[in-house]
Amino acid sequence: MEIIEDIGRMRARAEELMVRRVDRGFVPTMGALHEGHLSLARRSGGENAVTIMSVFVNPAQFMPGEDYDSYPRTWKKDLELAEGIGVDIVFHPTAEQMYPPRRQTTVQVHELAKRLCGISRGLGHFIGVATVVAKLFNIVAPTRAYFGQKDAQQALVIQRMALDLNFPVKIVVCPIIRADDGLALSSRNRNIPAGLRPRALALREGLSLGREMIRNRNYDAQSVFNAICEHILRDDAIELDYLHLVSPETLEDVERIDDLVLIAGAIKIGGVRLIDNILVGPDGPWDD
Ligand code: PAJ
Repeated sequence: MEIIEDIGRMRARAEELMVRRVDRGFVPTMGALHEGHLSLARRSGGENAVTIMSVFVNPAQFMPGEDYDSYPRTWKKDLELAEGIGVDIVFHPTAEQMYPPRRQTTVQVHELAKRLCGISRGLGHFIGVATVVAKLFNIVAPTRAYFGQKDAQQALVIQRMALDLNFPVKIVVCPIIRADDGLALSSRNRNIPAGLRPRALALREGLSLGREMIRNRNYDAQSVFNAICEHILRDDAIELDYLHLVSPETLEDVERIDDLVLIAGAIKIGGVRLIDNILVGPDGPWDD
């Protein structure tokens, strides 16, 4: 496995693959790799001759007061895992290289980024995400890029950006990978205090409860919302950041569930912010 830390070298390597018409799959990550990240790399490996993974904890997408400093960093272990899964190139730039002084340009996806995490984390979050992913696409020049449905809004924002700015890349969105008990895998799970770990499941349980209500033909978004909130807020260790039942295309709130809806939520537990979501409609799906 090749490790590239320099932007110029990464671009030269990408150009070389491009002229040879070698398909390049790209998996952008912030490291602290887990099965969720590896599932994207595995999918890329099955669809491309070469898989490139970036590991870069992007300071621009952390808002003031968020967990940039305490975000888990497990570089040595990440390399072992990436190599084990068959990643060909790991791109690991420094923040100084990615963000030189005097930069002035950002990428903003206006409407989609205003909702859900864009409200609770602030507009700057998705500007940070879209800008870094645009830069990475320009450096890595992938044929296909892989994102997780765990960050459903992020995947939509990136799809929109790639279309709007004509990036010649196919965006592939992959299913949420969960721990045995159902908790969505996240690098941040490592920071949940051990004693609180079982209670972090409340969001997932709430989402499943919402799905059961829809299965029982309760199509009123407000009553599904109320039941999920009630479930989550039963535990006083949990702060509910947001919960929304939205259109999976526009992220606008829905009143009646007569088509697929995205039920997306964010909680804080033991100082750690966790997100999760499910897609469900009057005809299911009833499991995931
Ligand atoms: P990170 O949180 O490291 O996630 C990298 C990719 O892995 C994202 O596409 C995310 O949706 C996916 N992922 C994380 N947990 C997952 C799970 N349990 N199941 C499936 N996929 C999962 O998302 C980012 O980094 C950054 O915002 C990034 C896109 C790299 C830009 O900095």
